[in-house]
This record gives sequence, C-alpha cells and structure tokens, in this order.
Amino acid sequence: MATAPQALSSARYKDATAPIAERVDDLVSRMTLAEKVGQMLQLDARGDIDDLVRGKLGGSLLHASPERINEARDLVAMTRLQVPLLMADDAIHGHSFWPGATIFPTQLGMACTWDADLVERGARAAAVEIAATGLHWTFSPVLCIARDPRWGRVDETFGEDPHLIGELGTAMVRGYQGDGLTDRTAVLATAKHFAGYSETQGGRDASEADLSRRKLRSWFLPPFEKAIQAGCRTVMLGYQSIDGVPVTANRWLLNDVLKGEWGFEGTLVTDWDNVGRMVWEQRVYATDVEAATVAVQAGNDLVMNTPQFGPAAQDAVSEGRLDEALIDDAVRRILTLKFELGLFEDTRVPDPDLQAQVIGSSEHSELNKEMARRSLVLLRNDGTLPLDGGLAAGTDGRAVASTSRTITIVGPNADDPHAQLGDWAGASGQIDWLPDGHPRDTITTVLDGFREVAPADWTINHHRGADIGELIPDPAGATYPDGQPRPPVFLPAKADPELIGQAVRAAEASDYVVAVVGDTVALTGEGRSTATLELQGAQIALLDALYATGTPLIVVLVQSKPSVLPDSVMRAAAIVEAFNPGMQGGLAIAELILGLIEPSGRLPITFARHAGQLPVYYNQIRGQHGDRYADLSQDPLFAFGEGLSYTEISYSGLRVDSDAVRSDEVIRAHVTVTNGGDRPAIETVQVYITDTVTSVTWAERELKTFAQVTVAPGESVDVELELAASACTIVDADGKRVVEPGEFDLLVGSSSRDRDLLRSRFTILG
Ligand code: NOJ
Repeated sequence: MATAPQALSSARYKDATAPIAERVDDLVSRMTLAEKVGQMLQLDARGDIDDLVRGKLGGSLLHASPERINEARDLVAMTRLQVPLLMADDAIHGHSFWPGATIFPTQLGMACTWDADLVERGARAAAVEIAATGLHWTFSPVLCIARDPRWGRVDETFGEDPHLIGELGTAMVRGYQGDGLTDRTAVLATAKHFAGYSETQGGRDASEADLSRRKLRSWFLPPFEKAIQAGCRTVMLGYQSIDGVPVTANRWLLNDVLKGEWGFEGTLVTDWDNVGRMVWEQRVYATDVEAATVAVQAGNDLVMNTPQFGPAAQDAVSEGRLDEALIDDAVRRILTLKFELGLFEDTRVPDPDLQAQVIGSSEHSELNKEMARRSLVLLRNDGTLPLDGGLAAGTDGRAVASTSRTITIVGPNADDPHAQLGDWAGASGQIDWLPDGHPRDTITTVLDGFREVAPADWTINHHRGADIGELIPDPAGATYPDGQPRPPVFLPAKADPELIGQAVRAAEASDYVVAVVGDTVALTGEGRSTATLELQGAQIALLDALYATGTPLIVVLVQSKPSVLPDSVMRAAAIVEAFNPGMQGGLAIAELILGLIEPSGRLPITFARHAGQLPVYYNQIRGQHGDRYADLSQDPLFAFGEGLSYTEISYSGLRVDSDAVRSDEVIRAHVTVTNGGDRPAIETVQVYITDTVTSVTWAERELKTFAQVTVAPGESVDVELELAASACTIVDADGKRVVEPGEFDLLVGSSSRDRDLLRSRFTILG
C-alpha cells in the first residue's frame, strides 16, 4: 500500500531544469519494486479508481470518464512519489467519447480522400480537442492492412494498401503529436496493432495470423516502420499469434525488429489483457508469473488491463525468473514519456474554458465537412447525378432549382446518427457514460442534410422502409472467463411488408428515391466480424421493391466496410459509398447528390462480388492456372482506387523522362490529365509499378505514389511524377528488401484496374 507523500521537493527528478535521463534515473532509484511494476500497469478507469491509483499504483489509465480524469489526478497527489498518470483513450476518429466532440469519418472514410494533408489537419484538430480534456494519449492510428472484409475492424483501417496506409498513417501521427511533446496541444500517437493482427483466418477477429517473417516484411511491417520514422512515440500490439507465438511473447518482432532494427525508443503497450490471455485464452503459459516474465523479456513496457501482472511480475523477480533490470528498462521508457510531456511540472489538467472554445468548434466542424465531402466515393452513375444536372447554391446555403421536385429518403441509415458515426464513437459500446451517444444536434444525418440544403420548395419525404437487425444476448453466456462482458450477437430483421409498402408508395409518387442502407455498429468491431458480406435484415427486400417502382433509385451505402451488392443496387441509377462519414456525413451526401460539391473520393479497398472470391485485394501475388474460378472470375465488383467524378476525365501521353536509371536515381514521368466534361474535378493520379521479372513471386502491381490535381472543365493538366528507384523493391527469399535491377512498367491512371492505366517501360540498371 502506498504511503503518504513525503517531502521530495529537492529530489533530482523534481528538478525541471535537470536532463530527462538524470531525472528518470533518480526516480527509478527511489522506487520500490511494487512502484515500478505499478508504472507498467495500464488500468481500466471504470474500476475502483482509488484502488487503481493508490492500491495498484497504476502508471496509466484508459477509459476515464470526464469526471474521473480529475479524480485520478487528485489521488496521484496522495501517493508517495506523485508520479503523474498517463491518461489514454481511443480517440480514434475524433475524441470518440467526449460529448459533442468533433467526430470525423472513420479511418476507412478518411482513406477515401487519399489526402494526407487533410488527414493530418483532422488529427491536429482532434488532438486539440483531446488535449483540452486532460488526456495525453490516443490509441490511433490503426496501421493494419485490411485484406479480408469479413473482419469486424476494417472500418478502423486505412484500407488494403501498405503505401497508402503509410502515407496517411504518418500524416495522422504528425497531426496528433503536433510540434512535439512539449506542445500542450500534442497527444501521443499509437501505431497499432503491431503487427499482422488483420491477417485473420476467415475474417475472424484475433485468430492466428498465418504469416511468415517474409510476408510481414513485405506488406505488414512497412507502414509501422514509416510511422516510427515519423516519430510515433507509442506502439500497441494486436491480439494475434504468429506461427504459434502470441505477439506479446514475440521477441523477434518486439525486440529485434521494432527496438533493434528500427531503433524505436518509445513505449510499447500490449492490447487489452494480452498478458492474461496467454494464460486463460491462448493457454501457452500455466501461470501469470510465467506470462509476466515472458512479456517483460519480450520487450513490453505497459501492460493493458492485466491487473494481476503487478503481483505476478514481483513474484517473478523474487523467484529469480525475471531480471529486475528489465523492469527498470521498461519503467525508464514509460517515465521518459511522462517527463517529455512535462507532466511532472504540468499534468495538463482538463481545461473547461479551453474545452468550451475547441470541442466541436465551428472551425473543426468546417474541417469535418471538408473531410466528409472528400470521403464520399461515387461508384456508379447513369447520369442521374447530380440531380437535375446539378443545382447551384443560393445565398442561404440551400440549393436553388427551377423545377420543383419530390424526393423520398428511405432506409435504416437515412436518419440513424449511430450508424453514421460508426464504431468508437458515443454509444458504440466501449464506454458507459454516453448511453445515448453524442448530442443529436451535433450530427447531420442524410435526412437532415436534405432538409437543410435541398431547394426550399422541394418536398422531402421520409420512410424507414426496413430494419437491419438487433442485438440479443450471446447464448454462450454474459461474460468471458476474465469477467469481461461478451458482446451481444446479431439477429437480422425480417422484412415488414407494411414498412416496405409505405416506402414503395412514397417512391412511386416521387421524382427520385434515395435509399440509405448499409450496416450498424452491431455488425462492426471487435468480436463482430461477419461471415457474409450481404446487406443484412430487410434491406435487400426494400431495395428490390424500390428498384421495381421505376423511380430513379440512388443508393447510398453508409457502412463500415465493403459489402456485396444485390442486382437491384447494381442496376440502380447511382451508388454513393459513404464509409461511416462522421457528424457532417449526411450534409455532405445531400450536397453531393444535389451537385453542390464534386465527388472526389477513391476506394482504399476492393469490393468483392461474392464473399467466396476473398481475398480480392488488388496487389495479389502472381500464381498459376489463370485468374478465375469455374463459376466466377476473380474480377472484383469495384477495385482499389476506383471512384467517379461528375465529369469525363481522360489520361494521355504518359512518358518517362529517361528510360534507364540507377537504383539511387529518381524516375521522372509526365502524364496529361484532361477534363472533357463541364464540371471541375479533383483527380487522384495513381502510380503503380510492375516489376516484370522477380526472383520470388511478387505482387503484379503495387501503388508507389499518387498526386491530386484539380482540373477545370475543358482543361488539360500536365502532371509531373517522381518516384525514387529505391522504392521499386521486393522482399527476396532471404527476407531482404532489395531493388532487383531489370525492366519495370510504370502504370499511371485513375484506378488499379488494368483498363484504367497507361503503361511505360523503364529499366533500373545494375
Ligand atoms: C482493444 C483494441 O484492440 C484496441 O484497439 C484498443 O485501443 C484497446 N482495446 C483499448 O480500448
């Protein structure tokens, strides 16, 4: 039990002018073993907070409600050494659980922008809001590669491509960490989930990841390496094991690669109860003492929510199994962060005045509108969009039109604030202090958006039309063996003829029908992977009935991940993808459909035609026996990089400046992008390469860089492209990343599809 504070004002660690390394050494030298292992505990603040802080001597808390943040700080002042807490939470697309904070699109939505600068600005705004509430650390960004859309956490990723993930992930890290940790608006970023967690089996969360070290180095590790190079100060593990070794015990990954090869000096945190799970779930150790020993030896610093790690680690030291010097190393890394953040001088208490200025500020809301608008991907359009050829904005922000129209807005996600925000926001289930989610008036649903910006004399009808489903208690029992609640399971809704009938009658009497369908948080998240990808519940019945009315049908997909689409959707007049588009998503969708803004999003992930086609990610390894099943080709429904504009864009004249370069030189190329239509476009020029012959089988094409250009109607833009030849690598049979001299194709165009790419050959000289 901690004793009362003693007079320590002259201690070296309290001297703000002393070098951090000396302050750390001084503090560690004063700590008991119990205090040291306490620093390694990251505990769930929803428990008995006095016990967490003064009893268990926890070094970090997560999931603290607004009130508990102050309470925890007051308790620290009553401990012997008064070591400040690191306050952490999942503020992953905005300050997820702070009432009324700006909630941006999910990472998958952000990724559709392909705009690193915009993503960085979003993370900066989020950091300003997070820091004002007394939190020091956000568990974001997710750098997992989403290769199986059945996985429940696809929404948390930047999609399927390592290059795009690396670009957007490092932007997010820069945004969170601002001008460095002494910046009072900086929060620690977390590169997670290290590494290979997303390589699930059958899409099932937290399964064994079937990965070799070479595959890890080829695709899964590069985004993490980039984030570390960008200065990301913390890394979080996933839940997976690889080749029989739980990631928590993977010395090669944690010590040799992360800390050794990459020189990571920040702090490593496990995922939720990873150390305990090695005993009770994965069952690779018989006791908590063994698990604690291995976790420390493998290089873990903070142990998330395994309270028994404290006594177990102390027993491991006293039994001679674990060298206390390793505990000291971990504690040094944790304390270094606390000193670098300046927490011993200023614990960064919640600042109500600042919160009133920055949380959900109009400036952040404007930025959120920009993010939402840029996140929308137009997937199909028979010319119906923009409605009536595109409306102009009036002075009051509403569209103006010469013809009066009736639009029926239907579907379970047309007016559902929770589905629109997606997972990790408000009432998504991880915390208990926002049972009804974020204040309703902070969220503009699609229905709200139409009511806000459609011409004043247009009639906007609304009918729900169908339900998706509901959650029921898991028949396997209410809790897991560690007492954690088991998430409820999903029961799909049955079609209700009365609901569908109302929607159909309204659609028949309308000029247009907008169906907003997709999924809900009940089908998203940890432990909520789906076996199928079809639209659930009564949605397909509703869509079929709406299509049959003959009224032009615009389908908006508000969903957490790509779904498999029925014929009625594929034959609809238009399809707009909106991956959980955040608080302003409904406004952006209405603006897009009315033609007040241009569609510019591009898919960061491939859509399958059928779940049996998986995997369908674009950068597949060259194999044998062609590319089809007997009953289906491997052609995806929508490919990585796809997305339409409201204008005609064409590419021409791809030319490489020099057709032979050395591996330390830069490949320069030009391409002309022409807008042959009558509306402006933001075009994402995508640059892939194919290494024509490789010493090991390799991806047929890989994204290497991209550029965004605005092209005015009727104009052509000459785009200059640059690519370091040193980026044209493969990972060879020995696991080494190398450039293999020889012939390459440079592929430039509007998506990863062959038909959308121009091709030019170049040689990298030996
Ligand atoms: C488990 C999740 O896997 C991780 O992403 C999250 O940051 C932690 N829980 C904390 O909530």
